[in-house]
Amino acid sequence: MFQDTHAVVTGASSGIGREIALSLARNGVKRIVVHYHGNRDGASETAKQCSASGAQPIVLRCDLADAESIQQFASNCFAELGEVQTWVNNAGADVLTGEAATMTFAEKIKQLIEVDVLGTIHLARMAAQAMIRQRVEIPSSMTFIGWDQASQGMEGDAGQMFGPVKAAVAAFAKSLAQTAAPQVRVNLVAPGWIRTSWGESTDAYWDRRAKEQSLMHRWGSAADVAQAVLFAADPNNSFLTGQEIQVNGGWNRRFAKP
Ligand SMILES: NC(=O)c1ccc[n+]([C@@H]2O[C@H](COP(=O)([O-])OP(=O)(O)OC[C@H]3O[C@@H](n4cnc5c(N)ncnc54)[C@H](OP(=O)(O)O)[C@@H]3O)[C@@H](O)[C@H]2O)c1
Repeated sequence: MFQDTHAVVTGASSGIGREIALSLARNGVKRIVVHYHGNRDGASETAKQCSASGAQPIVLRCDLADAESIQQFASNCFAELGEVQTWVNNAGADVLTGEAATMTFAEKIKQLIEVDVLGTIHLARMAAQAMIRQRVEIPSSMTFIGWDQASQGMEGDAGQMFGPVKAAVAAFAKSLAQTAAPQVRVNLVAPGWIRTSWGESTDAYWDRRAKEQSLMHRWGSAADVAQAVLFAADPNNSFLTGQEIQVNGGWNRRFAKP
């Protein structure tokens, strides 16, 4: 479905972003920018696996908290690829695992706002402007990654950080869809509890909670999210824009079993 097209996936050095890049490569993308920030080895591994599927990966670094780095990355992407048919804004600061987990609430939300909100918005604006000018026959696509609970609210520090941050991403995506049509379709994929690095290392409480809050009684996988991103980005879905797709196995509103 993406035969001979070009793609950019931010945050493709691990987790959901890696799976999105691999899925695009498996589905025919010819040239793909594999973006990373600190994990160069992870990006190289993603690139190796993209090559095995027949794609030509280009590994590029960018710090979304740094305006100059964003500018450089955007221009490198278009210099390398020429036209971009599929752009995925997946990168997000990890404030839950590793050293970052010990930061204060104020430090965590500052980092999330700098990276997930401001960095993502600045990069997406530059990319969208270039994609609008492409004037290709089939609309290109830009997909953002949000969070299913951003619009509902969740208790505790995680809800108070990720709620406003991912709600801002969703609001921006919907406004960009209004600006970029009809040349670029813009959608948001909002994952629920997805088993990436935090999910792998979390405790029994969150393991049980993640499973019980989904009607499917399981964690979501990075592949589940990639599947939805491919649906949103699929050039055949040329009437799909300004939409939010929640990937959470269906929110469980039934009484929890004792
Ligand atoms: N997992 C979930 O349950 C879940 C649920 C809802 C939404 N999400 C969202 O889904 C996206 C991917 O999450 P994930 O679970 O796959 O996390 P992950 O494995 O930690 O991947 C995050 C990616 O973002 C990149 N990144 C971090 N800081 C950056 C910075 N300053 N500049 C540029 N890139 C940066 C990382 O690059 P390096 O590692 O190379 O530094 C990495 O490639 C995030 O936006 C996250 O908020 C996840």
